[in-house]
Amino acid sequence: MMSDWKIRKAAAIQAEITVPGDKSISHRAVMLAALSNGPCMIRGFLPSEDCLATVGAMRALGIEIERVDETTLVVHGERGHFKAPSGDIDCGNSGTTMRLLSGILAAQPFTTRLTGDASLSKRPMRRVMEPLAKMGARIVAEGADGRPPLRIEGGKLEPLQYLSPVASAQVKSAVLLAGLFAHGKTTVTEPFQSRDHTERMLEYFLVHPKKKDLSVSIHGVQTPESRDFVVPGDISSAAFWLVAAGAHPEAKLLVKDVGLNTTRTGILAVLVRMGAHVREVISNDGAEPMGAIEITGANLRGTVIGGREIPNVIDELPVLAVAGALAQGRTVIKDAKELRVKETDRIAAIAGNLRAMGVEVVETEDGMEINGGAPLHGAVLESFGDHRIAMAFAIAGLFAEGETVITGTECVATSYPGFDKELELALKRPRTPQTPVITHLH
Ligand code: S3P
Repeated sequence: MMSDWKIRKAAAIQAEITVPGDKSISHRAVMLAALSNGPCMIRGFLPSEDCLATVGAMRALGIEIERVDETTLVVHGERGHFKAPSGDIDCGNSGTTMRLLSGILAAQPFTTRLTGDASLSKRPMRRVMEPLAKMGARIVAEGADGRPPLRIEGGKLEPLQYLSPVASAQVKSAVLLAGLFAHGKTTVTEPFQSRDHTERMLEYFLVHPKKKDLSVSIHGVQTPESRDFVVPGDISSAAFWLVAAGAHPEAKLLVKDVGLNTTRTGILAVLVRMGAHVREVISNDGAEPMGAIEITGANLRGTVIGGREIPNVIDELPVLAVAGALAQGRTVIKDAKELRVKETDRIAAIAGNLRAMGVEVVETEDGMEINGGAPLHGAVLESFGDHRIAMAFAIAGLFAEGETVITGTECVATSYPGFDKELELALKRPRTPQTPVITHLH
């Protein structure tokens, strides 16, 4: 069902919040647990549509998964043995489900067909098909130009030394998961460091991948050891509130129990460069570092975001573009062509929506230039069915004169159930500055 949000200008955020579990880590926890040799309890799981697509896929492959409560699962690992599903596996909107699962299915002695929604059906899959085919799987894309649905005929795999042309954690993970089933050493080398959750989780499940510069290797055939896992809060969900607070000189926000993996915290470095005051406190460095972020807002200034920093901020670029619009001076986003093949063409969607709010933007092939600092005005904006576009522009609406309407906000359920409740709280806060409710960090 289509739903819209109406947003108006809000007071500075003075709050202490938590965000739901990390999406990337939740997918991987379910998959690694399913591959392991026994039951694993996963706490802090993100119960969003994308991650539930992974749970549904694993169940369709014969894995028993108990839902203890909203965010706690027990996954019964079957040592890498799966059953042929009785029908297609629907990955919904989730690129991570389709690409990572392809790596596992490439090694199974049966054929699986993976489908997705209209957005996922437009996303490129050759990036995983090619390395997995080199390992011995037969994968056919039924859509034009390597688009889904995918028909994966799995079988015995050979190890692979793979030089990935894209800095994509999904590609790296698909090859490493396939490598778990191949006799010998599989290595993936990427052009820039992408998020390293799969490597960390393999290590946590005692598979011991070897990391050297931009390469990761694993030895197959191995069965991950079943272990319980705690998923930290998603910094990509916190990103919306970090910008809402960071761009307001009277704001102060504390985000607790959030993931602080350095392959994901690029947004903090960008906000510091733009003038916000940020403090991180790591309280737990288990499989994934986790802790608190305290941010104090400022009048932001423009910055350049590009190069090796891009994979680290890839999902935060929509809301960082909003920060750029709120900052004085020019913000340049470059080397981010990947944005064109996300849930929607995010470069076009961001530029179009910023322009509708009165911002001067020049769109480039791999990014954009934003002339920041002009007052934003309310407008009717599309989500383009993309969760991060909907949420980024909800944050823009908190700073705009007049009313902002975001249409098609139901897509937010793919990554951040409860975002609308947090947004309501932000809108309800009194407009006069309040006593900070931030507790002191030790
Ligand atoms: C993800 C990796 C990134 C990211 C996506 C989740 C992952 O995609 O944009 O939201 O969980 O591995 P790419 O690997 O395609 O860059």
